Amino acid sequence: MRMVDLIEKKRDGHELTKEEIHHIIKGYTAGDIPDYQMSALTMAIYFQGMTDQERAELTMAMVHSGDTIDLGEIKGIKVDKHSTGGVGDTTTLVLGPLVAAVGVPVAKMSGRGLGHTGGTIDKLESVPGFHVEIENKQFIDLVNKNKLAVIGQSGNLTPADKNLYALRDVTATVNSIPLIASSIMSKKIAAGANAIVLDVKTGAGAFMKDLDDSKELAKAMVDIGNLVGRRTMAIISDMSQPLGYAIGNALEVKEAIDTLSGKGPKDLEELCITLGSYMVLLAEKANSLEEARTMLVEVMNNGKALETLKTFLVAQGGDGTVVDQPEKLPEARFKIELQAQEDGYVSEIIADSVGTAAMLLGAGRATKESQIDLAVGLVLNKKVGDSVKTGDSLVTIHSNRENVDDVKNKLFSSISISSNAVKAPELIYATVE
Ligand code: URA
Ligand code: CA
Repeated sequence: MRMVDLIEKKRDGHELTKEEIHHIIKGYTAGDIPDYQMSALTMAIYFQGMTDQERAELTMAMVHSGDTIDLGEIKGIKVDKHSTGGVGDTTTLVLGPLVAAVGVPVAKMSGRGLGHTGGTIDKLESVPGFHVEIENKQFIDLVNKNKLAVIGQSGNLTPADKNLYALRDVTATVNSIPLIASSIMSKKIAAGANAIVLDVKTGAGAFMKDLDDSKELAKAMVDIGNLVGRRTMAIISDMSQPLGYAIGNALEVKEAIDTLSGKGPKDLEELCITLGSYMVLLAEKANSLEEARTMLVEVMNNGKALETLKTFLVAQGGDGTVVDQPEKLPEARFKIELQAQEDGYVSEIIADSVGTAAMLLGAGRATKESQIDLAVGLVLNKKVGDSVKTGDSLVTIHSNRENVDDVKNKLFSSISISSNAVKAPELIYATVE
């Protein structure tokens, strides 16, 4: 098989076979196919697209390019959730304990990564003592015992995706639905999921800013999952403004604690219950979405979800008392209010630009080497649709430096106030299954 012939085949709009796709991914991972040929192929895919079958084969070829996690010793159907990322997205911290509390095994592999705030692991590490450096065997035992454990990303998961993503990043081919969908799905499948629930974000703070593109991506991922034998469902949710109120590491842990006790922001609670219901359904712990929802609301109200969080934190070395005394989480030295300068209604809170403001405080990493400050971040006091009076606090800035003029300027340019009443945006735009 000559790579040049395969590039030509795709360039001319023909379908690559299973053998061809596996040959390409194997060759590229081994270093036998050079970057310049792979770049030409990704550009051909960008313009010609891929059939459902090609997408499924590409996904599985990437799954088998490195290690795969065997969760076979965990009892029950392992359901994983993936979010395409947003600003202040606290869902993972809430969903883990929430669905574990009704008996769904959650074996979460998570990372740090770059972004406005840290990843799930950074957030959890704001709980004193908590760590994810555990052996695979302990990880599996903990999931069997407590239904929930989190482990750091294995070094050699989907190396083909890692290389390909880096290549796409510098060849203007990131933005291709078949390539994004297979990239995301390969990582979930390699991490051992039997079933997958996807939260595809849409709006200013999302990877996909346009609703139609988000729907297409969701459909592409659901089709791949179902073709390769992993039941998959997706919802499209709003990321025009940040989710919940908190954007920051320790601040989001506190928000997760509030939400698990039924006292969190209503948008975050609703999104978690919706995603959680799909997870419970796919794990076959309920017969209908309504039944799943009732179960989740019950564990939120009776304290079981919070208790599950505590057990999970303690099992991985964390101080479980933070659950009842969140003031034990890292706290920033200064709390500075951003005051509204006019009366009216909040009409816009541009999510990605608020995320950048959090990053200016040190809540996220700009480069892999950046140090993260777990204590700092933002708490929104108003959301789109809320009425405000001059002098009301729009945002509380949690900072470890006294002068935050740069952060205030960024926030003022991200938040708009209108004199006319504004409706809050929809939270969930569509379900794809
Ligand atoms: N996120 C991924 O993991 N892969 C992509 O290709 C794009 C976003
Ligand atoms: Ca949040």
